[in-house]
Amino acid sequence: MKILIVASEAYPFAKSGGLGDVIGSLPVALKGKDIDVRVVIPKYSAIPEHYRNETEKLKNISVKVGWRNQYCGIEKLEYKGVNFYLVDNEYYFYRDSLYGHFDEAERYAFFSRAVLELLPAIGFKPNVIHCHDWHTGMVSVLLDAQYKENKFYRNIKTVYTIHNLKYQGLFSKEILGNLLGLSENYYAEDKLKFYDVISFMKGGIVYSNAVTTVSKTYSEEIQTPYFGEHLDGLIKEKRKDLYGILNGIDEDKYNPRTDGYIVKYNARDIKTKLRNKTMLQEELGLQVNRDMPLIAIISRLVPQKGLDLILCILDEIMNLGVQLVVLGTGERKYEDFFREAEKSYKGKISSNIMFNDELAHKIYASSDMFLMPSLFEPCGLGQMIALRYGSLPIVRETGGLKDTISSYNEFTGKGNGFSFIDYNAHDMLFTIKRAVRLYKTKKEWNRIVQNAMRCDNSWRSSAGEYINLYDNLMQAKWCRR
Ligand code: GLC
Repeated sequence: MKILIVASEAYPFAKSGGLGDVIGSLPVALKGKDIDVRVVIPKYSAIPEHYRNETEKLKNISVKVGWRNQYCGIEKLEYKGVNFYLVDNEYYFYRDSLYGHFDEAERYAFFSRAVLELLPAIGFKPNVIHCHDWHTGMVSVLLDAQYKENKFYRNIKTVYTIHNLKYQGLFSKEILGNLLGLSENYYAEDKLKFYDVISFMKGGIVYSNAVTTVSKTYSEEIQTPYFGEHLDGLIKEKRKDLYGILNGIDEDKYNPRTDGYIVKYNARDIKTKLRNKTMLQEELGLQVNRDMPLIAIISRLVPQKGLDLILCILDEIMNLGVQLVVLGTGERKYEDFFREAEKSYKGKISSNIMFNDELAHKIYASSDMFLMPSLFEPCGLGQMIALRYGSLPIVRETGGLKDTISSYNEFTGKGNGFSFIDYNAHDMLFTIKRAVRLYKTKKEWNRIVQNAMRCDNSWRSSAGEYINLYDNLMQAKWCRR
């Protein structure tokens, strides 16, 4: 089985969020199951220099963007046994940030065609091309429109994974001809038209043989108007080819028994976890007190993450006698709020408005609770990492949070965290209160921590689900589209 994974980012080369983590770890898991898997991403200037210098330059080809021909270098790098191909064009990808530029349509139209063009150049014909999120939505559109008659591309099947339906890649319809070489016919309801623009996300959904998203619950939610981002009708129509496959986490990177950033511990050794806690309290200027519940938030600071609930009732949360550590960057409104909160609650709140991997590991290891009250959450990785470090997640029951966290049941002793249903600040407060109350009953709390640390959030079963899906597509004699 030959699989090509295509995405706009991959850890450890370039990462802006969970997508990067997934593209860094899923291929490794597939490789572990004996799949010939390769990955293509753009060669950004943000890729650490030592990786950029290590690449093997394979070939230069030229790639059409509308009527123009653009240079495309193909470079290769091996990471954990997987071949990553980097698409090189300094004009498109040597910028001061990964995303948010004036010519996003052009950058990813170029990238999508480059992916298809580089396959014969490297002599790799995949059975399945597996694309991720809007940046790569046009790969299956172009394959269907312009390549499938060519013998080399015949029978290649496509899978498209939605990591976040909210970001869709919407552009004016002129790009059809100018950037993609597609006729005006593609500006139609059953093709790429989305209101009065073109949607890359819709292209991926309509033209791929199968669509997946990163949890079962999110795959159901996006068929409803509340979560559907105006694509719920289309997704519902496609539901026979829609699958929810939960992400896994990199269990080597996030392992309290081997983590080099912390004092190592395991599920039977919670005392050492407390050493991490007091060390972090000291490092961050919090009151050193092992008995005070330490709540962590590690997140992109955007509305999706449910931060507005915290803004509403921060004082009430702090009145419960807890400490709060925040790590992340994002919208100004939230960054400013947490900076101010640190000043008002000296020694009790630590706001770290930054991206810092080492500090993230320390916070997972030191915290008692991990707060993630998301408005919506396709999968969520933070809560899975928190489980592994015995920091008990407090979540809202949506998307992947619902699928990975079961609220503790005092009667059965089962559960790995705490959850609430409605997007409501006082429901959240009530749930935090419950966690704080249980925290004081050391023995019971430790039992929940053990439950959490024993959860399996690896890629093992999900990689198997992807392989089954690839297999089914390869067996299918015809494309459903
Ligand atoms: C996006 C989603 C997040 C998911 C991640 C990886 O960032 O918002 O829920 O975990 O993609 O799939």
